Amino acid sequence: METKSHLKIFLLCSSLLEERVARAYEHVARLIDNDIVKCLFEFIAHDSFKHARCFELMARALSQETSAYPEDCVKVWGESWLAVVEDAERMLKKHEISLADLSSLVDSLHAIEGFVAEEYLSTLHAKLVDAMLSKGGMDVERFRVMLNWIVEDEDRHRKVLEMVKEMLSKLSR
Ligand SMILES: [Fe+2]
Ligand SMILES: [Fe+2]
Repeated sequence: METKSHLKIFLLCSSLLEERVARAYEHVARLIDNDIVKCLFEFIAHDSFKHARCFELMARALSQETSAYPEDCVKVWGESWLAVVEDAERMLKKHEISLADLSSLVDSLHAIEGFVAEEYLSTLHAKLVDAMLSKGGMDVERFRVMLNWIVEDEDRHRKVLEMVKEMLSKLSR
């Protein structure tokens, strides 16, 4: 696959994944009755919607044709892309959530955040650098900087979830 179109599909699939994850956080936030935990989930949801939008617009800046199919996403991101999307979809189906449920949910979200940050980092170092070398252009350099900021957000998401986990363990005592 040509580097630039490979990059575009990676960005589009990242946008799809972020949007799904954002909706899952937003949905879970609605089910939580502790206001601070609710606020922390909304905090991550807003960041994730922001990431989804940025990835979509970056992809559009590379080319007008902006559709990606789940099969393409699995090719570019690996099977884990589908696993994350399916996890997010399972969360969206929940109608209520117990403290114990929430605690194990936070563990799986923590793993997702770590995986996503790693994927963004490896892409940053491989695909983006390739694209920069082969195509040049300031846009790709800017994308690299923006991806770095997104990785920083993902690190913060893990810290937020660690705070939630600590709060939950106190609430359950
Ligand atoms: Fe994100
Ligand atoms: Fe995140």
